[in-house]
Amino acid sequence: MTLEEKIGQMNQYNGFFDVTGPVPKNGSAAQKYENLKKGWVGAMLNVKGVKEVRVLQKITVEETRLKIPLLFGFDVVHGYKTISPIPLAEAASWDLEAIEKSAQIAAEEASSTGINWTFAPMVDITRDARWGRVMEGAGEDPFLGSKIAIARVKGFQGDLTSNKNILACTKHFAGYGFAESGRDYNTVITSDDVLQNVILPPFKATIDANVKTFMNSFNELNGIPATGSSFLQRDILKGNWKFQGFVVSDWGSVNEMIAHGYAKNSKQAAEIAANAGSDMDMESYAYVENLAQLVKEGKVKETIIDDAVKRILRVKFELGLFENPYKYCDEVREKETIGKEEFHKDVLDIAKKSIVLLKNENELLPIPKEGKKIAVIGALANDKTSPLGSWRIGADDETAVSVLEGLKKYTGNQITYAKGVDVAVGRTQFMWETKINMTDKSGFPEAIKTAKNADVVIMVLGEHGLQSGEGRSRADITLPGVQQELLEEIYKVNPNIVLVLNNGRPLAIPWADKHIPAIVEAWHLGTESGNAIAEVLYGDYNPSGKLPITFPRNVGQVPIYYNHKNTGRPIMNEPESVFWSHYIDEKNTPLYPFGYGLSYSKFEYSNLTLNSNSFSKNGKIEVSVDVKNTGKVKGKEVVQLYIRDLLGSYTRPVKELKGFEMIDLEPNQSQKVKFTIDEKMIEYYTANAKWEAEPGDFKVFVGTNSADVLEKDFQFK
Ligand code: IFM
Repeated sequence: MTLEEKIGQMNQYNGFFDVTGPVPKNGSAAQKYENLKKGWVGAMLNVKGVKEVRVLQKITVEETRLKIPLLFGFDVVHGYKTISPIPLAEAASWDLEAIEKSAQIAAEEASSTGINWTFAPMVDITRDARWGRVMEGAGEDPFLGSKIAIARVKGFQGDLTSNKNILACTKHFAGYGFAESGRDYNTVITSDDVLQNVILPPFKATIDANVKTFMNSFNELNGIPATGSSFLQRDILKGNWKFQGFVVSDWGSVNEMIAHGYAKNSKQAAEIAANAGSDMDMESYAYVENLAQLVKEGKVKETIIDDAVKRILRVKFELGLFENPYKYCDEVREKETIGKEEFHKDVLDIAKKSIVLLKNENELLPIPKEGKKIAVIGALANDKTSPLGSWRIGADDETAVSVLEGLKKYTGNQITYAKGVDVAVGRTQFMWETKINMTDKSGFPEAIKTAKNADVVIMVLGEHGLQSGEGRSRADITLPGVQQELLEEIYKVNPNIVLVLNNGRPLAIPWADKHIPAIVEAWHLGTESGNAIAEVLYGDYNPSGKLPITFPRNVGQVPIYYNHKNTGRPIMNEPESVFWSHYIDEKNTPLYPFGYGLSYSKFEYSNLTLNSNSFSKNGKIEVSVDVKNTGKVKGKEVVQLYIRDLLGSYTRPVKELKGFEMIDLEPNQSQKVKFTIDEKMIEYYTANAKWEAEPGDFKVFVGTNSADVLEKDFQFK
């Protein structure tokens, strides 16, 4: 290969239609075609459909000297055309099999359209509900996040010899979820402890699951942009973790090092990024324009280029593209696969499992199926686009089942609908007119009249699907616009309200929690959204979801997360003076803790038992707890195990999730649930810069969420 041909493999261009980032000024379509024909392109992104993919693949395979097939990347984040719940919602299912299945069908559908590489899973841990991309990850916990990351990689990649699987891409390496003040792309400053023990574990988990590609990140981490970080990409990823795949930059992130103040121009940005281990440049054009010259000047060694190209070519080989560059190009299969009936069944299944019951006073839910007058209120109730959520760029608008449609399938009740208030206007998938504070109240009177005459009022409120996601950070995380006012007005005339929340992030809803009898967290649930919500509201599905992220009372508490440190001045009970770590105007506790979620069943925990109160190297402790369904219906419960290490060379969190098990119990049925504590479970990245278990005192907690637990002590000697 010539130097230029090698560098070409390290160049990724956006396709010729929609974009998922700001368009660089120097990227004309004519130039891209010219470079494609020279063999100076290794991968494309955002090319839609077999026909388009085939045209570009044909150019490289037939017109270039070396005929090296292209990779086609796309953000298949939670489905291609048939859309699953947003990843944050799926994480609330705690159902790893269902999550894997969801990724698998996304891969099958996307692969039939010519795509062979998804930019997912996003495994960024986040503790900040203001950050718009909180919807795209698995929430705040590194243990749950790692399990989910593995499930999603397995689902996407499965068996790569099959044309139903595609390459996965673990992103964004690293720290993106810790953007200061939750503002997208903002600075990240973190400690070694948090980086190693919180941020990195899900990334590492995907290496163990054999993920083939990584994407670096827009943010700087402790003063160095991630794209130019040798520490992240060379020392940790390719060094310690021995990653054999390749790293793609994020969109334009090579050139963004200029704005970061880390490179003086595109040439220097290319030098820094390539030397730091970014193997492929997405849409900066910095490599294709500068790397050859940089090699000639000795600023980038050719061995660096060779290593990057080897990595990229190896992945192409593993995918089987050299045997058949058109492996994913079959128009007949494309037609037969898009929107398959079985996909709908699977996305409905995961949608139901993702719903979290937050409150259910006086058993207002489930709603009787007959003889009731139901008022349905809220613009989101009648919206067929919003439930698709953010990052579903292959899907068509208006293709989700709305809540109203779902409810109307149950014909025994009389349903009346009033919009009440608008939530959003002016949408396109990528450009969004952020009319989040809509103030028009002209729909209030009609909504109030509708509510007055009803037995039960179902209010569907929250965020439109495009009000979270990339570039959609919020400083205020209450209900957008005048929805809160509408809720309070309706409550005055009919307090029998079921509040169905649609949102891509935790919302602060303290008033609703205090006054509204039933609250259902229904996120953005995808294509089958309305059907899933209706099944839960009518009791055909008993809700089993648990929050993968803490819900604050007030945005001022953010970042708020269960696995926080104790501090030197923890609040024990009611503080008798001000000299404690607290707010003078708000509680420390969240509105709903991590792991929280109710059911139409009731679960009682008792008899937490350890078979020994200490263990040493290579030993273990067996933990058991009895869980009984004391409710009237069969239900599922996620039994959660947490550990606290009381003393460490780095201070340790007050609780850390270390295990969970989903059980299914008939009314009156009990089950003994068992966990094993071993050395691996209590290891962490210590101040000695290694993963190890430090001897000392520990607590184990088992319960229904991170706050409501039974506890015992044990020692590791
Ligand atoms: O995959 C995405 C990334 O998460 C954000 N920037 C654009 C990329 C490609 O669309």
